[in-house]
Amino acid sequence: MKKILLLCIAVIMGAAFVVAGCGSNDTAKESSASGSGGEKVLKVATSADFAPFEFQGENDTDYQGFDMDLIRAIGKEMGTKVEINNISFDGLIPALQTGNIDAVITGMSINEEREKEVAFSDPYYESGLTIIVKADNNSINSFNDLQGKKIAVQIGTTGAEEAKKIPNAQVKELNSSADTFLELKAGNVDAVVNDKPVNAYYMTKNSDNSVKRVGEQLTSENYGIAVKKDNTKLVQEINDALKKLKENGEYNKIYKKWFGTEPSNN
Ligand code: ARG
Repeated sequence: MKKILLLCIAVIMGAAFVVAGCGSNDTAKESSASGSGGEKVLKVATSADFAPFEFQGENDTDYQGFDMDLIRAIGKEMGTKVEINNISFDGLIPALQTGNIDAVITGMSINEEREKEVAFSDPYYESGLTIIVKADNNSINSFNDLQGKKIAVQIGTTGAEEAKKIPNAQVKELNSSADTFLELKAGNVDAVVNDKPVNAYYMTKNSDNSVKRVGEQLTSENYGIAVKKDNTKLVQEINDALKKLKENGEYNKIYKKWFGTEPSNN
Protein backbone atom coordinates (compact mmCIF):
# COMPACT_ATOMS: atom_id res chain seq x y z
CA MET A 1 0.00 0.00 0.00
CA LYS A 2 2.74 2.37 1.04
CA LYS A 3 4.65 1.47 -2.08
CA ILE A 4 1.67 2.27 -4.28
CA LEU A 5 1.20 5.60 -2.55
CA LEU A 6 4.87 6.47 -3.09
CA LEU A 7 4.58 5.47 -6.72
CA CYS A 8 1.54 7.70 -7.14
CA ILE A 9 3.37 10.65 -5.65
CA ALA A 10 6.33 9.99 -7.92
CA VAL A 11 4.09 9.90 -10.99
CA ILE A 12 2.30 13.12 -10.04
CA MET A 13 5.58 14.87 -9.35
CA GLY A 14 6.93 13.62 -12.67
CA ALA A 15 3.91 15.00 -14.50
CA ALA A 16 4.18 18.33 -12.70
CA PHE A 17 7.84 18.48 -13.66
CA VAL A 18 7.04 17.89 -17.33
CA VAL A 19 4.34 20.56 -17.32
CA ALA A 20 6.63 23.03 -15.57
CA GLY A 21 9.37 22.15 -18.07
CA CYS A 22 7.13 22.96 -21.03
CA GLY A 23 6.03 26.18 -19.43
CA SER A 24 9.49 27.52 -18.77
CA ASN A 25 10.56 26.53 -22.25
CA ASP A 26 7.78 28.59 -23.76
CA THR A 27 8.71 31.55 -21.62
CA ALA A 28 12.29 31.28 -22.80
CA LYS A 29 11.17 31.33 -26.42
CA GLU A 30 8.92 34.30 -25.84
CA SER A 31 11.64 36.23 -24.12
CA SER A 32 13.94 35.61 -27.06
CA ALA A 33 11.35 36.99 -29.44
CA SER A 34 10.78 40.04 -27.30
CA GLY A 35 14.40 40.21 -26.21
CA SER A 36 13.55 40.87 -22.59
CA GLY A 37 15.25 38.87 -19.85
CA GLY A 38 15.33 35.09 -19.39
CA GLU A 39 17.47 32.71 -21.36
CA LYS A 40 17.47 33.60 -25.01
CA VAL A 41 16.75 30.94 -27.60
CA LEU A 42 17.66 31.14 -31.26
CA LYS A 43 15.12 29.10 -33.18
CA VAL A 44 16.96 27.62 -36.12
CA ALA A 45 15.60 25.43 -38.91
CA THR A 46 17.41 23.12 -41.27
CA SER A 47 16.57 20.41 -43.75
CA ALA A 48 18.58 17.63 -42.14
CA ASP A 49 19.13 15.64 -45.32
CA PHE A 50 22.37 17.12 -46.58
CA ALA A 51 25.47 15.42 -45.19
CA PRO A 52 28.07 16.58 -44.29
CA PHE A 53 26.26 19.88 -43.57
CA GLU A 54 23.16 18.66 -41.72
CA PHE A 55 21.98 15.14 -41.12
CA GLN A 56 20.89 12.72 -38.47
CA GLY A 57 22.60 9.34 -38.21
CA GLU A 58 20.59 6.30 -37.21
CA ASN A 59 21.63 6.40 -33.58
CA ASP A 60 22.10 10.14 -33.21
CA THR A 61 19.85 12.14 -31.00
CA ASP A 62 21.31 15.46 -32.15
CA TYR A 63 21.61 16.83 -35.65
CA GLN A 64 25.14 16.56 -36.98
CA GLY A 65 27.27 18.29 -39.54
CA PHE A 66 29.29 21.36 -40.43
CA ASP A 67 26.29 23.72 -40.35
CA MET A 68 25.08 22.28 -37.05
CA ASP A 69 28.46 22.76 -35.34
CA LEU A 70 28.75 26.23 -36.85
CA ILE A 71 25.34 27.45 -35.71
CA ARG A 72 25.89 26.06 -32.21
CA ALA A 73 29.21 27.91 -32.06
CA ILE A 74 27.50 31.07 -33.33
CA GLY A 75 24.81 30.72 -30.67
CA LYS A 76 27.48 30.34 -28.02
CA GLU A 77 29.17 33.54 -29.21
CA MET A 78 25.80 35.33 -29.13
CA GLY A 79 25.04 33.98 -25.66
CA THR A 80 21.85 32.24 -26.77
CA LYS A 81 20.65 28.68 -26.68
CA VAL A 82 20.20 27.12 -30.12
CA GLU A 83 17.08 25.09 -30.84
CA ILE A 84 17.19 23.13 -34.09
CA ASN A 85 14.06 22.19 -36.05
CA ASN A 86 13.99 19.88 -39.04
CA ILE A 87 11.84 21.22 -41.90
CA SER A 88 11.81 20.08 -45.53
CA PHE A 89 13.96 22.28 -47.75
CA ASP A 90 11.12 23.92 -49.66
CA GLY A 91 9.35 24.82 -46.39
CA LEU A 92 12.26 26.71 -44.85
CA ILE A 93 11.83 30.17 -46.37
CA PRO A 94 8.06 30.13 -45.72
CA ALA A 95 8.76 29.21 -42.07
CA LEU A 96 11.09 32.20 -41.76
CA GLN A 97 8.54 34.50 -43.30
CA THR A 98 5.76 33.48 -40.94
CA GLY A 99 8.12 34.10 -38.03
CA ASN A 100 7.99 30.54 -36.68
CA ILE A 101 11.75 30.44 -36.71
CA ASP A 102 14.56 32.98 -36.45
CA ALA A 103 17.20 31.61 -38.77
CA VAL A 104 17.86 28.97 -41.42
CA ILE A 105 21.20 27.22 -41.88
CA THR A 106 20.99 24.49 -44.49
CA GLY A 107 23.72 24.80 -47.10
CA MET A 108 21.52 27.47 -48.65
CA SER A 109 23.13 29.30 -51.54
CA ILE A 110 22.86 33.06 -51.54
CA ASN A 111 21.18 34.23 -54.75
CA GLU A 112 19.18 37.20 -56.01
CA GLU A 113 15.88 35.39 -56.07
CA ARG A 114 16.12 34.42 -52.41
CA GLU A 115 17.47 37.81 -51.42
CA LYS A 116 14.08 39.23 -52.41
CA GLU A 117 12.50 37.08 -49.70
CA VAL A 118 15.05 36.83 -46.89
CA ALA A 119 18.22 38.47 -45.61
CA PHE A 120 21.50 36.52 -45.66
CA SER A 121 24.51 36.58 -43.38
CA ASP A 122 28.00 36.94 -44.81
CA PRO A 123 28.98 33.87 -46.86
CA TYR A 124 30.32 31.02 -44.74
CA TYR A 125 31.11 28.32 -47.31
CA GLU A 126 32.04 28.25 -51.02
CA SER A 127 30.23 25.65 -53.05
CA GLY A 128 28.88 24.86 -56.51
CA LEU A 129 27.04 22.22 -58.47
CA THR A 130 28.44 19.02 -59.92
CA ILE A 131 26.98 16.14 -61.93
CA ILE A 132 27.11 12.52 -60.95
CA VAL A 133 26.20 9.57 -63.17
CA LYS A 134 26.50 5.80 -62.99
CA ALA A 135 30.10 4.63 -63.20
CA ASP A 136 29.43 2.74 -66.44
CA ASN A 137 27.82 5.72 -68.19
CA ASN A 138 30.05 6.88 -71.03
CA SER A 139 27.63 9.19 -72.81
CA ILE A 140 27.46 11.98 -70.22
CA ASN A 141 30.74 13.79 -69.78
CA SER A 142 29.66 17.40 -69.36
CA PHE A 143 26.75 19.70 -68.71
CA ASN A 144 25.94 19.83 -72.46
CA ASP A 145 25.51 16.07 -72.57
CA LEU A 146 22.54 16.41 -70.19
CA GLN A 147 20.25 17.65 -72.98
CA GLY A 148 17.26 15.38 -73.34
CA LYS A 149 18.32 13.30 -70.32
CA LYS A 150 16.53 12.39 -67.10
CA ILE A 151 17.96 14.31 -64.15
CA ALA A 152 17.18 13.95 -60.43
CA VAL A 153 17.40 17.03 -58.19
CA GLN A 154 16.19 18.11 -54.77
CA ILE A 155 13.06 20.24 -54.97
CA GLY A 156 13.57 23.98 -54.45
CA THR A 157 17.35 23.89 -54.80
CA THR A 158 19.74 25.72 -57.11
CA GLY A 159 20.43 22.30 -58.65
CA ALA A 160 16.76 22.10 -59.63
CA GLU A 161 16.93 25.61 -61.15
CA GLU A 162 19.99 24.78 -63.25
CA ALA A 163 18.62 21.43 -64.41
CA LYS A 164 15.40 23.07 -65.59
CA LYS A 165 17.42 25.29 -67.95
CA ILE A 166 18.75 22.27 -69.88
CA PRO A 167 16.93 21.83 -73.20
CA ASN A 168 14.58 18.84 -73.31
CA ALA A 169 15.79 17.47 -70.00
CA GLN A 170 13.27 15.60 -67.89
CA VAL A 171 13.77 16.91 -64.38
CA LYS A 172 12.62 14.78 -61.47
CA GLU A 173 12.26 16.90 -58.33
CA LEU A 174 12.61 14.78 -55.20
CA ASN A 175 12.39 15.55 -51.49
CA SER A 176 16.01 14.97 -50.53
CA SER A 177 19.43 14.48 -52.02
CA ALA A 178 19.41 10.93 -50.62
CA ASP A 179 16.37 10.26 -52.81
CA THR A 180 18.21 11.59 -55.87
CA PHE A 181 21.09 9.17 -55.30
CA LEU A 182 18.64 6.29 -54.93
CA GLU A 183 16.95 7.19 -58.22
CA LEU A 184 20.29 7.24 -59.97
CA LYS A 185 21.34 3.88 -58.55
CA ALA A 186 17.98 2.36 -59.43
CA GLY A 187 18.54 3.47 -63.03
CA ASN A 188 15.43 5.68 -63.05
CA VAL A 189 17.44 8.76 -64.01
CA ASP A 190 20.65 9.35 -65.98
CA ALA A 191 22.21 11.93 -63.68
CA VAL A 192 22.02 13.85 -60.40
CA VAL A 193 22.77 17.58 -60.20
CA ASN A 194 23.60 18.58 -56.65
CA ASP A 195 26.09 20.48 -54.50
CA LYS A 196 29.68 19.35 -54.94
CA PRO A 197 30.63 18.70 -51.28
CA VAL A 198 27.44 16.68 -50.73
CA ASN A 199 28.03 14.55 -53.83
CA ALA A 200 31.65 14.04 -52.81
CA TYR A 201 30.76 13.10 -49.23
CA TYR A 202 28.11 10.68 -50.42
CA MET A 203 30.57 8.87 -52.68
CA THR A 204 33.41 8.59 -50.17
CA LYS A 205 31.23 7.88 -47.16
CA ASN A 206 29.46 5.00 -48.85
CA SER A 207 32.58 3.95 -50.79
CA ASP A 208 30.17 3.95 -53.67
CA ASN A 209 32.00 2.97 -56.85
CA SER A 210 28.80 2.47 -58.81
CA VAL A 211 28.58 6.23 -59.43
CA LYS A 212 31.09 8.87 -60.55
CA ARG A 213 31.42 12.61 -60.92
CA VAL A 214 31.70 13.99 -64.45
CA GLY A 215 32.51 17.36 -65.95
CA GLU A 216 33.45 20.69 -64.49
CA GLN A 217 31.83 22.39 -61.51
CA LEU A 218 28.78 24.09 -63.05
CA THR A 219 28.32 27.07 -60.78
CA SER A 220 30.02 28.96 -58.02
CA GLU A 221 27.75 29.50 -55.01
CA ASN A 222 28.15 30.79 -51.47
CA TYR A 223 26.22 29.47 -48.51
CA GLY A 224 24.68 31.98 -46.14
CA ILE A 225 22.51 31.87 -43.02
CA ALA A 226 19.04 33.25 -43.80
CA VAL A 227 16.86 35.33 -41.49
CA LYS A 228 13.62 37.24 -41.93
CA LYS A 229 14.14 40.07 -44.39
CA ASP A 230 13.72 42.92 -41.92
CA ASN A 231 15.74 41.36 -39.10
CA THR A 232 18.90 43.40 -39.65
CA LYS A 233 19.79 43.15 -35.96
CA LEU A 234 20.04 39.36 -36.11
CA VAL A 235 22.06 39.44 -39.35
CA GLN A 236 24.52 41.78 -37.63
CA GLU A 237 24.78 39.55 -34.55
CA ILE A 238 25.35 36.46 -36.69
CA ASN A 239 27.98 38.23 -38.80
CA ASP A 240 29.79 39.44 -35.70
CA ALA A 241 29.81 35.93 -34.25
CA LEU A 242 30.97 34.43 -37.56
CA LYS A 243 33.80 36.93 -37.75
CA LYS A 244 34.89 36.07 -34.21
CA LEU A 245 34.86 32.34 -34.99
CA LYS A 246 37.00 32.91 -38.07
CA GLU A 247 39.45 35.00 -36.05
CA ASN A 248 39.74 32.69 -33.07
CA GLY A 249 40.26 29.52 -35.12
CA GLU A 250 36.97 27.88 -34.14
CA TYR A 251 35.62 28.08 -37.72
CA ASN A 252 38.77 26.36 -39.02
CA LYS A 253 38.44 23.66 -36.40
CA ILE A 254 34.87 22.89 -37.44
CA TYR A 255 35.86 23.00 -41.12
CA LYS A 256 38.70 20.56 -40.55
CA LYS A 257 36.45 18.22 -38.59
CA TRP A 258 34.07 17.82 -41.55
CA PHE A 259 36.27 18.33 -44.60
CA GLY A 260 39.62 17.06 -43.36
CA THR A 261 41.50 20.17 -44.52
CA GLU A 262 41.83 23.82 -43.62
CA PRO A 263 39.62 26.11 -45.71
CA SER A 264 41.55 27.57 -48.67
CA ASN A 265 39.92 30.96 -48.13
CA ASN A 266 36.94 31.94 -46.03
N1 ARG B 1 22.87 24.86 -52.08
C1 ARG B 1 21.66 24.43 -52.67
C2 ARG B 1 20.62 25.51 -52.60
O1 ARG B 1 20.78 26.45 -51.90
C3 ARG B 1 21.10 23.16 -52.04
C4 ARG B 1 20.85 23.22 -50.58
C5 ARG B 1 20.12 22.02 -50.06
N2 ARG B 1 20.17 21.95 -48.65
C6 ARG B 1 19.62 20.97 -47.91
N3 ARG B 1 19.77 21.00 -46.61
N4 ARG B 1 18.96 20.01 -48.47
O2 ARG B 1 19.61 25.46 -53.23
